[in-house]
Amino acid sequence: MKNLVAIDIGSQCVKVLDIRGSGDRKVVKNCAIRGITENGVRVTEEQVTRAIQDIVSRMDGVSSQAVTAVSGKSVIVRNVDFPNQSKTDILRQIREEENKYIPVNLKDYFYDISIFDVPLPERKTLHGVIAAAKKETVVNQVKMINNAGLSTALVDINSLALINLYAALAELSKTEGTVTALVDIGASSTHVGIIIKGASIFSREIGIGSNMISFSICEKLNCDFDSAEKMKHAGMESVNEYAMPVVLKLVKELTMSFNFFEAESGVNVERIFFAGGGALLKGFTETISRSLEIPSEIMSPLSFFHNEAKDGGDMLKEASPAFAVCAGLALRHLD
Ligand SMILES: Nc1ncnc2c1ncn2[C@@H]1O[C@H](COP(=O)(O)OP(=O)(O)OP(=O)(O)O)[C@@H](O)[C@H]1O
Ligand SMILES: [Mg+2]
Repeated sequence: MKNLVAIDIGSQCVKVLDIRGSGDRKVVKNCAIRGITENGVRVTEEQVTRAIQDIVSRMDGVSSQAVTAVSGKSVIVRNVDFPNQSKTDILRQIREEENKYIPVNLKDYFYDISIFDVPLPERKTLHGVIAAAKKETVVNQVKMINNAGLSTALVDINSLALINLYAALAELSKTEGTVTALVDIGASSTHVGIIIKGASIFSREIGIGSNMISFSICEKLNCDFDSAEKMKHAGMESVNEYAMPVVLKLVKELTMSFNFFEAESGVNVERIFFAGGGALLKGFTETISRSLEIPSEIMSPLSFFHNEAKDGGDMLKEASPAFAVCAGLALRHLD
């Protein structure tokens, strides 16, 4: 299997993981996280490219081929029951009857399907997922990476990369059967995905991210965004006051999502795994979990890898959930 470097370009931070090996011996060789905003506003694509170039140039023996993922509004993940037929026929049917399966003009999207059921002859339908990403978004992201001197071998979707990491962790902890919500709290948005036995059953993007807390600190204390971020990262007691409205908003949105899922599926969410840098705020995920009365954990990719990273090793320890999507991407090519 070719060695690839995983690059997660978020709205606030770019994360890079160079993981090598296979089987039980997967080793983090290099790791980096770097901010790509100035006062809360994302820098230009050229600056993101330069950041990636700089990060990769400091990494020893790293691959020149990357795996990355897209997310947000330009991505659609839908659970669908397809007629029991070959993948080629299903894809043809999706093309011909696009509005039946996915409400977008597929000419503007790259898309693929993944089937969860074994296609036994007696089955009428096969349960699976369609994942589609806007071509423009994919092309832009690939351009940022290519301009940094790397080629892009694989473009994934954030939420599916997270499921990939979860599946690996669940296998370790023998919890694959549990109905689990994966909640990635990023800087500008939160993604909630619900999975049963490794299959994605529900996927939704919520327009609330951890930066909302920082913006609230800026407004209330009349300070700049970077100072607010520093206060938040330091875990100061006073931050709780500004975090609480965001907790309440997230709890409301998550409750709505879980209620919808539970009404459709007839089963309850039993456990939450939190990921993303937003999960690092002290007490934040615990309060959400308590309000929802659902037990939770923070996803730590570290339990899955041997950490031999020289410069980034501590970074990976401290910001572990922020690396969850990136770790899922890295695992993809090591499978
Ligand atoms: N130690 C910390 N304490 C509190 N908050 C933190 C900490 N580290 C990171 N964050 C917050 O996490 C957010 C960044 O998380 P992450 O890197 O997952 O976002 P992103 O992937 O860039 O954004 P998105 O997924 O929304 O595109 C920021 O709001 C940042 O302030
Ligand atoms: Mg993110």
